[in-house]
Amino acid sequence: MKILHAASECVPLVKTGGLADVVGALPLAQRAQGDDARVILPAYRGLAAKCRELHTLATVAIRGRTLQLLRGRLDSGLPLYLVQCAALYEREGDPYRDAQGREFSDNAERFACFSEMVARLATGLDPEFTPQLAHLHDWQAGLAAAWLHEQLQRPRLLYTIHNLAYQGLFPRAQYEALQLPWRWWTPQGLEFWGQWSFAKAGLVYADALSTVSPSYAQEILGAEFGCGLEGVLQWRRGVLHGIVNGIDTQVWDPGTDPLLAQRYSLASVAAGKRANKRALQAQLGLAGNDAPLLVFIGRLTEQKGADLILAAGAALLASGAQLALLGAGDAALQDALRAWAARAPAGQVAVRIGYDETLAHQLYAGGDLLLMPSRFEPCGLNQLYAQRYGTVPVVRATGGLIDTVVDTTAETLQSQRAGGVQFRDADGAGLSYGVQRGLQLLREADTAQALRRLLMSRDCSWAASARQYRALYASL
Ligand code: ADP
Ligand code: GLC
Repeated sequence: MKILHAASECVPLVKTGGLADVVGALPLAQRAQGDDARVILPAYRGLAAKCRELHTLATVAIRGRTLQLLRGRLDSGLPLYLVQCAALYEREGDPYRDAQGREFSDNAERFACFSEMVARLATGLDPEFTPQLAHLHDWQAGLAAAWLHEQLQRPRLLYTIHNLAYQGLFPRAQYEALQLPWRWWTPQGLEFWGQWSFAKAGLVYADALSTVSPSYAQEILGAEFGCGLEGVLQWRRGVLHGIVNGIDTQVWDPGTDPLLAQRYSLASVAAGKRANKRALQAQLGLAGNDAPLLVFIGRLTEQKGADLILAAGAALLASGAQLALLGAGDAALQDALRAWAARAPAGQVAVRIGYDETLAHQLYAGGDLLLMPSRFEPCGLNQLYAQRYGTVPVVRATGGLIDTVVDTTAETLQSQRAGGVQFRDADGAGLSYGVQRGLQLLREADTAQALRRLLMSRDCSWAASARQYRALYASL
């Protein structure tokens, strides 16, 4: 099957979160299963230089701009299309924000043009590749569904929700300025309380919808997690599916990971993790001892609940554990975390503000517990990386964390399903309870060893999920 993935991020080219990991890995898994899966991305600054065999396929006028469609290939062999328009995409910053963290004021135009090029490619712009399935990821590609659903000759459309909290909501004036068709401007279309929503275009016009875990697929049908779109989702619930993410088990493998101080396998996990912890402690200014190391990696937003670490701060410090945190985002939270680290006893807390892929790998390897106190979590990948590196995830029972981290009990250890620790309450006491349970599991040497074995041998590769997507595509 010919499959076109459209998204705003893709590893190893550009990443702000898990979306990039998924869009980088799923197409490779599909290719390994015999399908011709390809990716289309905006050509952000510097991307073209990272592609091989890049050449221009077409020049197209869209919304008063001139855009180029380029085709190339990544080192992994993945065929890639880039949508080039220097004025829209070649900037400093990340895909959505400038170097100071401010959203670009023309994101509606940037992703409307991108989506329209996706629709052109999906309907035959590259004579060599006319997809049977267009897989649109999150709001940045959502408008492609509006264009494509009206075509007679078109691929089937799957729209995947990676995070419903980000909807691409813009004022009406920008719709007018872009001269988009008024036929879509209805409550049954992409109009949303006087504004317009890219995500809603995907939700309304795609043939099928999915999100990245079965639990989140249920949760978004209700007001608490539906972000105002629960009505649309209830209307479309018959075509809404939940398919859990996998991980790239080659990139994320403690046995071969070049970023680690010492590589290890199941047979050498205790010594391997200890060596990685020591290296981390030295690097981060933590005391070089055998205290359990709690790690957190993530965007500093309401979603990820890093503020709950502060709420649980006193209890965490009293437990004697060390804590290493890596993240960037909300400025007030960054400051509060830094201040907390400065007040904590010397050598007990390290806070690193920024985005650091290398340090992330080292934290998964050197940590004992990975904290994920998310208020909501569509899937979450950190817990899967932690498991693969033998680090016990301590997660809030929400969304994909419910589906991927089976709570550890005598029964789930026995039945080999245990995957970490779940806790329920989104507050300091809830997190602190989860951490205490995690620490207790580590203190029981036999339990810790049995649990690590289960975590590290869990199959979280893409193969199974790729097969589920394949069955879903085929049903359309
Ligand atoms: P989300 O996409 O909501 O941010 P996921 O758990 O799906 O959450 O994926 C997060 C990804 O981003 C993981 O690969 C994680 O290691 C990475 N990540 C998040 N924050 C940072 C950071 N500050 N530095 C390095 N990697 C990070
Ligand atoms: C989103 C979600 C995260 C998910 C990722 C990839 O960023 O917040 O839970 O793992 O997308 O699907």
